[in-house]
Amino acid sequence: MAEWLTVCAAEDIPTGAREVFDVDGRWVAVFNVDGQYYAIEDVCTHDGNALTEDAQGRPVPLEGYEIACPRHGARFDVRTGKVLRAPALRDVRAFPVRVQDGMIQLNVGT
Ligand code: FES
Repeated sequence: MAEWLTVCAAEDIPTGAREVFDVDGRWVAVFNVDGQYYAIEDVCTHDGNALTEDAQGRPVPLEGYEIACPRHGARFDVRTGKVLRAPALRDVRAFPVRVQDGMIQLNVGT
C-alpha cells in the first residue's frame, strides 16, 4: 500500500526553489511554483539520467511549469510529468505532494 513519506519542512523549499530527494532509491525533484508544490521523478525518459541539473551540477531553471532537459532539450510539465517536446517520448512520473503540519510529504506509490 502506498504511503506518505516526509522529505523536509515546507519552508526548506521556498517559492521558486526546488530540492531533490532520494526516496526509497528513487530520485524525486520537488518544486515550489508560486506556493504550490509539485514532484516528478528526476529522470529524463530519453536517457535515464538527471533532468534537473546539467553536467556541471548546475540547476536547470524552470520556465513557468516547464523544465527542459539539459542534454537534448526535451521538455516536461512539472505539474503532471507530461512530455511536451521530443526527443523524449514518454512522460516522467509525477507524484502527489501534500503539506502536513508544515512538512512536505510525497506519495511515490510502488
Ligand atoms: S537526455 Fe533528455 S532529452 Fe535527451
